[in-house]
Amino acid sequence: MILRSEHIAKSFGKKKVLKDISFQLEVGSITGIVGENGSGKSVLMEIIVGVRSADKGSVNKQGRIGYCPQRAVLFPQLTVHEHFIYFSEAYGIDNKQSKRRSEELLHHFNYKKYQQEKIINLSGGTQQKLNLSIALLHEPDLLILDEPYNGFDWDTYQRFWDYTNHLKKQGCAILIVTHLLSEKERLDRIYELENGILV
Ligand SMILES: Nc1ncnc2c1ncn2[C@@H]1O[C@H](COP(=O)(O)OP(=O)(O)OP(=O)(O)O)[C@@H](O)[C@H]1O
Ligand SMILES: [Mg+2]
Repeated sequence: MILRSEHIAKSFGKKKVLKDISFQLEVGSITGIVGENGSGKSVLMEIIVGVRSADKGSVNKQGRIGYCPQRAVLFPQLTVHEHFIYFSEAYGIDNKQSKRRSEELLHHFNYKKYQQEKIINLSGGTQQKLNLSIALLHEPDLLILDEPYNGFDWDTYQRFWDYTNHLKKQGCAILIVTHLLSEKERLDRIYELENGILV
């Protein structure tokens, strides 16, 4: 067990978005969360990662966490390369590892040619590649992905799944918010967030 959340609740004013959410993630597994727009999937991910606080409940997690938020948090005036440097520093990984990992990711997701471009000049899909790469940079044990392939072309989408399967085999626990039920067979478990609870 790498993540256990118990009895999470969160309201905004009178609106109870999350009522009572409990679940756990096992090492080497892929878990999907589905639910309609506004059902609270992103709020739940933010609480799990710790960028938002819950009203009630607890989250216990172990190991390094990688988080790919639904909306990329990137610096418009920095280049792709500069993002790798910045986030490597933030994660505390050394230059050698940073270089190796960023090369691997640029190559795997096929955007090495944009390495020296500023974010402001990149397409949405390419920005999303970087958003995902940042979550993967430090080789996390627990990966939280909020609609990570938004805007990906078909080839990149396939490469995304190749990569997550590779991570799963290495023991990574992956939690992924998705709308695509066609992905069912790729997931070990799937939850639906409905009326503030997981079913
Ligand atoms: N800071 C906030 N203040 C008030 N309401 C909020 C706030 N953040 C989120 N909400 C509300 O919480 C609900 C859940 O939002 P959330 O973004 O988690 O939905 P979602 O399931 O991720 O939807 P989508 O599929 O569109 O990404 C929405 O009704 C949203 O308006
Ligand atoms: Mg969302």
